[in-house]
Amino acid sequence: MESTVRIFRSPYELAEKFAEEMVQMIKDSADKNIPMSVALSGGSTPELLFSVLGDHFSKAAPWEYVNFFWGDERCVPPVSPDSNFGMAFRLLFKKIKIPKGNIHRIYGEHDPAIEALRYSDLISRYVNSRNGVPLFDLVLLGLGEDGHTASIFPGRLDLFHSEKICEVSLHPVSHQKRITITGPVINNSENVRFLVTGSNKAEVIKKIMGKEKNALNFPATFVVPLNGRLQWLLDSNAGSLLLD
Ligand code: 6PG
Repeated sequence: MESTVRIFRSPYELAEKFAEEMVQMIKDSADKNIPMSVALSGGSTPELLFSVLGDHFSKAAPWEYVNFFWGDERCVPPVSPDSNFGMAFRLLFKKIKIPKGNIHRIYGEHDPAIEALRYSDLISRYVNSRNGVPLFDLVLLGLGEDGHTASIFPGRLDLFHSEKICEVSLHPVSHQKRITITGPVINNSENVRFLVTGSNKAEVIKKIMGKEKNALNFPATFVVPLNGRLQWLLDSNAGSLLLD
């Protein structure tokens, strides 16, 4: 596993640089005439990325070569301000030319347990696999101050290590139900990119990067792709305690 930490001067610089790299990954897939599977995340930094892609790169990529999925979704309707799909639709999908059939949202409005099964089946049908586990070309992840990622929260490492493709989880504070892909799926990916900005993330970043003992409570700590490339893209605030 190859792991890299990259620190950018600002959230915008991070989003712009990664948007360029993501577009290049899509072009490379198109050159090989191979569709690319991407699992999107919610969160403020992915939100900035979608905005940059939608506003400045909408015509830069052959989007028809991408199948978009979600690494997690809140159990709310797509019109809810909480919806990860809704956010990506408003900021990106409304602005690009992509077949509707390439966008595979999680039905947050459906029964969570049933939807987790449906989405697991959909992923297993549409996404390549390696050793019987779905193999995403790219998984985007955010990081919570508590060390959660996707919608796997501290205290629920059983969900991270689940053999299922998707699980239903519960936000520990809001008690909002979520659907999330699991750790084996994340760790089977070709490329995993954490997009993390803000000084409120500096402490949790320091603990994870410093392999501190209590980082073992953080689901994000266990994102260690077996064969893929892991990159942590941080802005200077989120990485500020790494620079000491
Ligand atoms: C979600 C995300 C979640 C998010 C982190 C960080 O659905 O909210 O999947 O994992 O990325 O909570 O969010 P912020 O970047 O907004 O702090």
